[in-house]
Amino acid sequence: MKHYLQFNDLTAAEYAYLFERAALIKKKFKAYEKHHPLVDRTLAMIFEKASTRTRVSFEAGMYQLGGSVVHLTTGDSQLGRAEPIEDSARVISRMVDLVMIRTYEQTKIERFAEHSRVPVINGLTNEFHPCQILADIFTFIEHRGSIQGKTVAWVGDGNNMANTWLQAAALLGFKVHVSTPRGYEIDEKMAIGAVGASAGSYQFFSNPRNACQGADLVTTDVWTSMGYEAENEERKEAFADWCVDAEMMSAAKPDALFMHCLPAHRGEEVEADVIDGPQSVVWDEAENRMHVQKALMEYLLLGRIA
Ligand code: CP
Ligand code: NVA
Repeated sequence: MKHYLQFNDLTAAEYAYLFERAALIKKKFKAYEKHHPLVDRTLAMIFEKASTRTRVSFEAGMYQLGGSVVHLTTGDSQLGRAEPIEDSARVISRMVDLVMIRTYEQTKIERFAEHSRVPVINGLTNEFHPCQILADIFTFIEHRGSIQGKTVAWVGDGNNMANTWLQAAALLGFKVHVSTPRGYEIDEKMAIGAVGASAGSYQFFSNPRNACQGADLVTTDVWTSMGYEAENEERKEAFADWCVDAEMMSAAKPDALFMHCLPAHRGEEVEADVIDGPQSVVWDEAENRMHVQKALMEYLLLGRIA
């Protein structure tokens, strides 16, 4: 049984399969062609933080695969009343076939997985957001072909998205240029410790414009992630120079793409003319969450389909 708790839980070969499978699943979806490999299978979705894309993409995706969904939040389940995570895992995983969790600490999802009888998917933790990077790389491939050997510029917080990009670069053979304000750096050991340092897969820049130099993809995220709201005001000051604007985009390759996992704050981490401009692929990126996660759920439950 496989869990998907971090990007490096799958191999490069498994990703190659998933990207191909997601393309096929997307094609079928667009053609209104039935694809029901998960009839009678149930996905439990546990949300301890807010969500729009993750909820809709997993829920719609599971129904489209012929399965069904149970939706739980901290507020309307015993999770919010201190039932141990281990007990919740034991109980929930006896009744469903697959679990997706969005929560705070990575250790929480790891403890859940340890006591689960069924595969567990990380729908975002403080440390990682693997489903999003899966969608982002699939989107890059759709627009530009293989990401191998390419350069991704990360402008902003050293957060769950940034950590996951670092893992993906080491695994799939591309480079990440990271620029974060002082005090908001990536915790390298935590991010890629498990994969091992991979020479040349990432580089740090104090100036965000320099990070964008020669990039094939420029990407950013909110200055304040969920769970860090108390730091909002001080972050606004610290991140003021980490706004992706047209000038920053002009440092990247002329055909560079812009991505943002969304939700976005125009005028903070990105200017409207960038996110709503011709280089932005954010709507494809959001839609692709569903297609890649359908491929992922199918893979975790059924393995490779020839
Ligand atoms: N990108 C993303 O995970 O969006 P939601 O928070 O809306 O799920
Ligand atoms: N880094 C953001 C991503 C939201 C999808 C957060 O954790 O809030």
